[in-house]
Amino acid sequence: MKESLFQVNDAASLQAACQKWRDAGERIAFVPTMGNLHEGHLQLVDLAKEKADRCVVSIFVNPTQFGPNEDFDNYPRSQEKDCAALAARGADLVFLPTVDSLYGADVRSDIQVPKELTDKLCGANRPGHFDGVATVVAKLFDVVKPNVAIFGSKDYQQLQVIRWLVNDLALPIKIISAPTVREEDGLAMSSRNQYLSMEQRQQASRLYQVLEYVAVRLLRGQRDFDALEMEAANVLNKTGWQVDYVQILTPEMTPPSKNGRDFIIFAAANLGSSRLIDNLICTIPAKPKNRM
Ligand code: PAJ
Repeated sequence: MKESLFQVNDAASLQAACQKWRDAGERIAFVPTMGNLHEGHLQLVDLAKEKADRCVVSIFVNPTQFGPNEDFDNYPRSQEKDCAALAARGADLVFLPTVDSLYGADVRSDIQVPKELTDKLCGANRPGHFDGVATVVAKLFDVVKPNVAIFGSKDYQQLQVIRWLVNDLALPIKIISAPTVREEDGLAMSSRNQYLSMEQRQQASRLYQVLEYVAVRLLRGQRDFDALEMEAANVLNKTGWQVDYVQILTPEMTPPSKNGRDFIIFAAANLGSSRLIDNLICTIPAKPKNRM
């Protein structure tokens, strides 16, 4: 029988529980979240359980990653429902720290992520966002000391920032990426989808459709990246979106070359006040070699 979900608010209790597991030779997987959990988050828990003996999840709406005009105060919080979902999914422990316990009186980012990683995509229009993400994840890693940590590739730039962080601090943590979980119409699941009106929700799947359209064009040989990005942004802007970016990059988030084979198409756009992001991997198959 599965034990019930441990709920802890303080770092000392969390460390004691994790130490007990480590002493018993058990490996720990960690899934950091901001709560308001949906199927995308819960599939990270499933993966965590496959990769280790124990699964620790954190729920913490992190103030340092929100800009002054962003939705920190209104970010959806649903702790009871989240804990019930985590228990049903078989997570072992949920960590629910307070701002004070993680930051003390100084609520600021101590970590500065290199510009090369943050001067593009979401980082360009959200100054300080990834410093806040890196800071809180470093604090959480320090308390949990997991063997592996799971992150969604929907937030691809965040995933790259975490890979940099682990490398920079030489942490013995394996970072595992999980595929994006989508609604039936293709919309990437997100805690922010619930801000959408019914009309906006119908419109929301267009973001993914546009990514698919760009992928098809790349597969058919189109290599004028600027023109493709502009075309995709225009389609969105004409249908009620305010586009932040549509950008084709390599998996290393560098500008692609015309004979490259691995692309990722990134997009971020607002529908009303909701900012949605998504990305799609596009791999060009190798040409079969001519037989003599
Ligand atoms: P949050 O937005 O709650 O996301 C928590 C984790 O769930 C992230 O790794 C994110 O990439 C993943 N995720 C979100 N939607 C997903 C989907 N549709 N499919 C698969 N995975 C998905 O990302 C954060 O919180 C925060 O920035 C955090 C890392 C917790 C630091 O505060």
